[in-house]
Order: sequence, then structure tokens, then C-alpha cells
Amino acid sequence: MAGLIYKSLFPLLLLLPALLLLVACSGNNNNTPSDTDLLLDVSHGGGGAAWGLANCDACHAIGVIHQSATSIRHIVKQKGFNTCAGCHGSNGSETKRECMICHNNNDLPTAPIQTGLHQHDFGVMAAVMGEQILQDEQCLACHYGSDMDGVFEINRDLTRYRDANGINSPYASGADFCLRCHNRDHQQADFPIVDKTFNDTLIAIKDDYTLVDKHGEENSDGTGTYAGLRSGYVYGSRVECTDCHAMHGTNNIKLIIDQSDKGVSKLDPVIREHPYTVHVYQDNYSQLCVLCHNAEALLDQTDVDTGNGLFGVHLTATSCIECHSHGEAVQAGL
Ligand code: HEC
Ligand code: HEC
Ligand code: HEC
Ligand code: HEC
Ligand code: HEC
Ligand code: HEC
Ligand code: HEC
Ligand code: HEC
Repeated sequence: MAGLIYKSLFPLLLLLPALLLLVACSGNNNNTPSDTDLLLDVSHGGGGAAWGLANCDACHAIGVIHQSATSIRHIVKQKGFNTCAGCHGSNGSETKRECMICHNNNDLPTAPIQTGLHQHDFGVMAAVMGEQILQDEQCLACHYGSDMDGVFEINRDLTRYRDANGINSPYASGADFCLRCHNRDHQQADFPIVDKTFNDTLIAIKDDYTLVDKHGEENSDGTGTYAGLRSGYVYGSRVECTDCHAMHGTNNIKLIIDQSDKGVSKLDPVIREHPYTVHVYQDNYSQLCVLCHNAEALLDQTDVDTGNGLFGVHLTATSCIECHSHGEAVQAGL
């Protein structure tokens, strides 16, 4: 509704697809309950009679709920009342919100794929020896109020962090979510990225991605010597952070995806779902790059298998990063 009013008042907005996207998605905010908001609030139970109560089984029979929520009905029944707070919130009680009870490698092995030794654990788990899987609190840090409808939507399923102006504005892209923490001057109080030098990618990435990187907002023209992309990507496409970086698990350093179905979201499903492995070694990222890049001209070993069955990138040296890294403006860039 708000979208319609906006459009009629400001026809100019019609010219700006990015803004239209914002309007279309702005109905769902973590602070504003909506049709798809599963989190209970102080009005629960007719005027709030049920707010603050932890024993859901006192009033709700597990066999009759969720008649219209078919995708989750069975698993909730199977896992029981310990799951309720995960999706509906703690209901004003002390109940812990559990995620891994369902999102584990046995019950939901592909949603998300969590295999691998490294996860986006906010740097905390390095201190806890032996800890190798994400914890419920970490899922919540990124997905506070997911609707779990099987469709991933950045403005419904990702926690809404404050932007540079301190406002919980809708995300314009998936990268926007990452950059609300990974920046030099407006980090989140609960997740500070400390003791980093000015050019450390962990904090420089916002400026790099916005102003320098070809995979970011700085468009390349695709006329470079090695031009050629596999279907799903075109020159001009913005490449999401999670096309290359895995949040939920990977064996590679710097959270680079270790198989194609953990990232490269737009890639032709025939290639993406194969899946191809990505092994990063000695700063050689060719098995990542070759997922999307497929050089048209056969120069500089672009016809040599990178080791995962695909070819189409030059293997100039063992290491790629002196020429291809975030914020690299002088050499070939990233
Ligand atoms: C004292 C009884 C009682 C308890 C305990 C209770 N509920 Fe409810 N719940 C209700 C009633 C009554 C409604 C309203 C039904 C309606 O409006 O159709 C409701 C509605 C809901 C709804 C629908 C959304 C809404 O806000 O109307 C959800 C989801 C829900 N309860 C989940 C839970 C969960 C999860 C727990 C345990 C943390 C829980 N309830 C504990 C009585 C209770
Ligand atoms: C995986 C997420 C998930 C879990 C876990 C979950 N629910 Fe739900 N719940 C939903 C969804 C989705 C709906 C449908 C919301 C809608 O239609 O708008 C829903 C709706 C409800 C409703 C409203 C009426 C109805 O039956 O649809 C109640 C009551 C409810 N849930 C109670 C519970 C209780 C009690 C538990 C714990 C046993 C629980 N839920 C666990 C996702 C979940
Ligand atoms: C650092 C933030 C972050 C953390 C921590 C995180 N996620 Fe995600 N998650 C994302 C992002 C971003 C996406 C969308 C891109 C993608 O699919 O990788 C996503 C996608 C998903 C999806 C849907 C896409 C898919 O792969 O099926 C599910 C399900 C999911 N996450 C569940 C979880 C669970 C459960 C946890 C805790 C074990 C968790 N996430 C931890 C950021 C995070
Ligand atoms: C009862 C089991 C259950 C629990 C508990 C549960 N989920 Fe889910 N979740 C699901 C299922 C099933 C789906 C996929 C629905 C589908 O594919 O149709 C899902 C989907 C998702 C998605 C993908 C986006 C979407 O809208 O489908 C995210 C993100 C997610 N869950 C995060 C979480 C987080 C975070 C928690 C803990 C706070 C959690 N889930 C707790 C069962 C559960
Ligand atoms: C809520 C804040 C927050 C969000 C959102 C967030 N991060 Fe992070 N990220 C951190 C923190 C904190 C660290 C740990 C920094 C440290 O090691 O000191 C980190 C670390 C990382 C690392 C380095 C991990 C390693 O093991 O080398 C990468 C890569 C990364 N994040 C990428 C991302 C991407 C991509 C996204 C979006 C999909 C994202 N982050 C979203 C806070 C966040
Ligand atoms: C000595 C510097 C240098 C090194 C080292 C290097 N490259 Fe390049 N790379 C370039 C240059 C220059 C281009 C051409 C850029 C252009 O034409 O715009 C390029 C282009 C590319 C492109 C394609 C861009 C397009 O136009 O589609 C890919 C993919 C690529 N390199 C991958 C790699 C990989 C993988 C490695 C490491 C195994 C690597 N490069 C090492 C300099 C380098
Ligand atoms: C998820 C797909 C994907 C992956 C993985 C990927 N790229 Fe790209 N790359 C693209 C797209 C799409 C563009 C065009 C971006 C634009 O025009 O804004 C691009 C552009 C480039 C360019 C600029 C080319 C020019 O003509 O100026 C270089 C250089 C490049 N990539 C190198 C790399 C390297 C090196 C890697 C591996 C570390 C890599 N890419 C991995 C999709 C990808
Ligand atoms: C085309 C693939 C690609 C995309 C897209 C991409 N990255 Fe990277 N990222 C890499 C590669 C390759 C490296 C290692 C080389 C380097 O450090 O620049 C890296 C390194 C990093 C590091 C340094 C990690 C560490 O431990 O030192 C961070 C942080 C990071 N990326 C965050 C992001 C964020 C946030 C985004 C989106 C805004 C993003 N990346 C988009 C490929 C990508």
C-alpha cells in the first residue's frame, strides 16, 4: 500500500529501480510486525494473556497447529516443543531460541550447507578450542526474525542492522548487510571489529567494494584481455559477497566457498549444483574464479584445468593476490 502512495506522489521514483526495490521490501522490518512476522509480541493470547509464558504445550496442541504451514509442520511435530521459541521468539520468557535442533547436517543438510572447518563465527570461536560449528546465538545474530518460508529474502530473513545514519533502513543488496559491520566508521556496538589497521580488508571492504572493486559497485566494461563469463553472470552484474564467501561452513581460508553450491548464486544451475570443488592454496584462487570466468581467448593457460575440472582463467602465478585483491586499484583488481 505504502508503495502505491509513494508511486503516485513521486513518479520520479519509477525511474529508480533501486528505490522501488526498497519500497517493495520495506514492509518487513524487524521492528515492525507484519503478516510474515512469526515473532510473538505483548499482545499474544488475546490482550497479552499468554505473554511471558514459557509452557506452550499448556495451550497449543502440537498435532493441530500449522495446518497451513506445510513446509515446517512435520519437522516441528517431530522435534517437539523445544523448537517453538526458535521461530516464534521467547514470548517474553527466558526460553533459549534454538536453531541447530533443526538446522543441522542430519535434519536439514542443505539449508544451509554447514560442512567445513571454518564458519563466520564473528572471530569468537578461535578462542574456544575444539569448537567447530556455529551456535544458535550466531544464527540469531544474522537471522533474528526469519519467516522460514523456504524463500530467502534479504529484508525478511536477515537481521536488520543500523546503517551509517544509525537507521534500520532496508537493505539494498546482500552486500549491504555485510557492510553495516565491515566498515571503518560505523560498526555495530555488539560486534566491533577491533585492532585493525586502516587498510585491513575486514574494515576497508566497505570503501573497497563501493569505490574500487570490479565485483562491487565499480562496473567493468568487459573488454579486458581475458573477457568471458559463464551463463548466469554478465559484465555489469554486481557480485554478492556470499557468491564468494561462505557464512555457514567451508574448509578454505578467508571463508572462501569450498564448493560451487555454497555460493555463486546466479550461476547456471547445471554448473552450480554439480557441484564443483574450490580448493584455495598458497593464495591461488583460480578454482573460485573459474566458476564464473571462462576466457573467450585461449591465452596464458586459459585452456589448462584449474584442478576442479573447469578451465578458463589464466594461471599467471601461484599467487593471484598481488594483482587481484579487494581494494586493488592499480593492478587488475578484484
Ligand atoms: C495461556 C495459553 C497460551 C500459552 C501458554 C501460549 N499461547 Fe500462544 N496463543 C494463545 C492464544 C489464546 C492465542 C490466540 C489464538 C487466536 O487468536 O486465534 C495464541 C496465539 C499464538 C500464535 C499465533 C500468533 C498470535 O500472536 O496470535 C502463536 C504463533 C503462538 N500462540 C505461539 C505460542 C508459543 C510459541 C507459546 C510458548 C512460548 C505459546 N503460544 C504459549 C494462548 C497461549
Ligand atoms: C520452523 C518454524 C516454526 C516453528 C519451530 C514453530 N512454528 Fe508455529 N508457525 C510457523 C509458521 C510459518 C506459522 C504460520 C504463520 C502464518 O500463517 O502466518 C506458524 C503458526 C503458528 C500458530 C498460529 C496458528 C496455526 O496453527 O498456524 C501457532 C499457534 C503456532 N505456530 C504455535 C507453535 C508452537 C506451539 C510451536 C512449538 C511446538 C511452533 N509454533 C513452532 C512456524 C513455526
Ligand atoms: C554472518 C551471518 C550469518 C550467520 C552467522 C548465519 N547465516 Fe545463514 N545466511 C546468511 C546469509 C548472508 C545468507 C544468504 C546467502 C547465502 O545463502 O549464503 C544466509 C542464508 C541462510 C539460509 C538459506 C539459504 C540456504 O543456504 O539454504 C538458511 C537456511 C540459513 N542461512 C540458516 C542459518 C543458520 C541455521 C545459521 C546458524 C547455524 C546461520 N544461518 C548463520 C548469513 C548468516
Ligand atoms: C522446527 C525446525 C526449525 C527450527 C527450530 C528453525 N528452523 Fe529455520 N527453517 C526450518 C525449515 C524447515 C526451513 C525451510 C523451509 C522450506 O524450505 O520450505 C527453514 C528456513 C530457514 C531460513 C531460510 C529463509 C526462509 O525464509 O526460508 C533461515 C534463514 C532460517 N530457517 C533460520 C533459522 C534460525 C536462525 C533459527 C533459530 C532462531 C531457525 N531457523 C529455527 C526449520 C526450522
Ligand atoms: C553483525 C556484524 C557482522 C556482519 C553482519 C557480518 N560480519 Fe563478517 N565479521 C564480523 C566480525 C566481528 C568478524 C571478526 C573480525 C575479527 O576477526 O576481528 C568478521 C569476520 C569476517 C571475515 C573473516 C573471517 C575469517 O575467518 O577470516 C569475513 C571474510 C567476513 N567477516 C565476511 C562477511 C560477509 C561476506 C558478511 C555478509 C554476508 C559478513 N561478514 C557479515 C562481523 C560481521
Ligand atoms: C601479474 C598480475 C596478475 C596475476 C599474478 C594474476 N592476474 Fe589475473 N589478470 C591480470 C590482468 C592484467 C588481467 C586483465 C584485466 C583486464 O583485462 O581488465 C587479469 C584478468 C583476470 C581475470 C578475468 C577478468 C575478465 O576480463 O574477465 C581472471 C578471472 C583472472 N585474471 C584470474 C587470475 C587468477 C585465478 C590468478 C592467480 C592464479 C591471476 N589472475 C593472477 C593480472 C594478473
Ligand atoms: C560469482 C561469479 C564470479 C566469481 C567467483 C569471480 N568473478 Fe570476476 N567477475 C564477475 C563478474 C559478473 C564481473 C563483471 C563485474 C562488473 O562488470 O561490474 C567480473 C569482473 C572481473 C574483473 C574485471 C574484468 C574487466 O573487464 O575489467 C576481474 C579482473 C575479475 N573479475 C577477476 C576475478 C578473479 C581474480 C576472481 C577469483 C578470485 C573472480 N573474478 C571471481 C564474476 C565473478
Ligand atoms: C569475486 C569474489 C569475491 C567477492 C564478490 C567478495 N570477496 Fe571478499 N575476498 C575474496 C578473495 C579472493 C579474498 C582474498 C584476497 C584478498 O584478501 O583480497 C577476499 C578477502 C576478503 C576479506 C579478508 C578476510 C581475511 O581474513 O583477511 C574480507 C573481510 C572479505 N573478503 C569480505 C568481503 C565482503 C564483505 C564482500 C562483499 C562486500 C566481499 N568480500 C566480496 C573474494 C571475494
